[in-house]
Amino acid sequence: VASVDVQVGLLGYGTVGAAVNRLLTEQADDIERATGHRLRVVKALVRDLDKHRDYRPADGVLTSDFADIRDDPSIAVVAEVMGGVEPAGGYVLELLGGGKHVVSANKQLVARRGAQLFSTASAAGVQLRFEASVCAAIPVIKVLREALVVTNVHRVLGIVNGTTNFLLTEMEAGQSYDDALADAQARGYAEADPTDDVSGADAAAKMAILATVAFNSRVDLADVDYRGIQEIDPLDLAAARELDMVIRLVGAARLVDGHVDVRVRPALVDKQHPLAKVDGAFNAVMLQGDAIREITLEGPGAGGVETASAVIADMVSVIGTMGTGFLQNDAAWRELPPLPAGDNRSPFYFRLSVEDRPGALARVAEELAERSISVARLLQHQNGDGAALHVITHEARAGALDEALDAIAGLPDVRHRPQPLPVISERGVVELGWA
Ligand code: NAP
Ligand code: HSE
Repeated sequence: VASVDVQVGLLGYGTVGAAVNRLLTEQADDIERATGHRLRVVKALVRDLDKHRDYRPADGVLTSDFADIRDDPSIAVVAEVMGGVEPAGGYVLELLGGGKHVVSANKQLVARRGAQLFSTASAAGVQLRFEASVCAAIPVIKVLREALVVTNVHRVLGIVNGTTNFLLTEMEAGQSYDDALADAQARGYAEADPTDDVSGADAAAKMAILATVAFNSRVDLADVDYRGIQEIDPLDLAAARELDMVIRLVGAARLVDGHVDVRVRPALVDKQHPLAKVDGAFNAVMLQGDAIREITLEGPGAGGVETASAVIADMVSVIGTMGTGFLQNDAAWRELPPLPAGDNRSPFYFRLSVEDRPGALARVAEELAERSISVARLLQHQNGDGAALHVITHEARAGALDEALDAIAGLPDVRHRPQPLPVISERGVVELGWA
């Protein structure tokens, strides 16, 4: 078969962009043998033309003028690997509107502006693909859209941020939060502003995308209730260890009676659970559906080459399916309402700091019992002149627990309002859903 030369543009030539160019160059023969196409990066947009690049592109490839890519008719496919919502979003709209296919690694953009981007792509008859925006090397979007098209996926549970998983794993091994974060940045795992990682915003955007594709109903970043790992206290890590659990940042998306519920929380995960074994910058996604019961995908969730592998796979898919096809359409074709706040159910963990005097525990237990919340496990440690109570409940309605914790915070013996964390203790996603 005669080889077809495909000229590719990149928006961005940082950790991911440079890795895309390197893989396309070093593996050009393999790609050509597999696809009959030779992909070449001919232009790459950057801010600073003089910056040192570990993997230097050919002369004349770097540009600081977006028009060099937008107006080049020889470029059919562009990879957006620059990040940020603007100007990346405006550029992608211009490219799609101008008839170029786009693949993006940018979860914030896809999760915030997906509807507009997909309708522009559809109107122009071009494709927008976004595999690399979720879990880097793990082909979860392709699996959901193609392999699981008839399985009615109703639950997605996962560790979808490599940086925080790396941080939590390193902290369990005794490294400080600051040192572990610096390490994650040096390895190219973290976002340009790592606040997105540690605050849960990165994981929330990925869960919004996964939920949209899994349930075919648009979930924007604003619909995701998320919390990050900044408030995880060494006391929580120590209590988790004592309870034979680990703490992980877990995303959960569920369809409950026609309502959608998507959230991201640090969670206590039983050491026997598959997610507890996901270490370092690895990610894992568990998919549960009618026909499949459960499928777990696990692999590298961050890093330049890891993400570039998904970017290139999307480019190859674009080339292989140019013209019409359902896979270039927006995955969201219906509108499901969100689950009412507080209706999600889970077992929970919370830590209470109380005065160590008779009746303190009884008063806490009374507030829980009044709302039918049952205690499954309890640990007590001396903590200075008071006591730290570590409580794990049986499955409870999050709204009821919130009411109980508000009341508990008002008790004279209690020193602060605890923040509950969900507990994941069984294989599978059956028990999930939390506040
Ligand atoms: P990065 O190393 O910071 O690279 C960003 C690139 O975009 C740089 O080359 C930068 O130019 C260019 N750029 C940024 N803003 C620009 C602007 N306004 N005009 C022109 N060029 C601009 O970021 P990255 O780690 O490669 O991540 C890129 C995207 O991939 C992000 O959306 C990220 O969320 C996503 N992603 C990253 C990973 C990962 O592990 N790193 C994994 C999955 C997805 P200069 O080089 O001149 O600064
Ligand atoms: N900063 C992201 C992470 C990169 O750590 O997971 C992959 O999207």
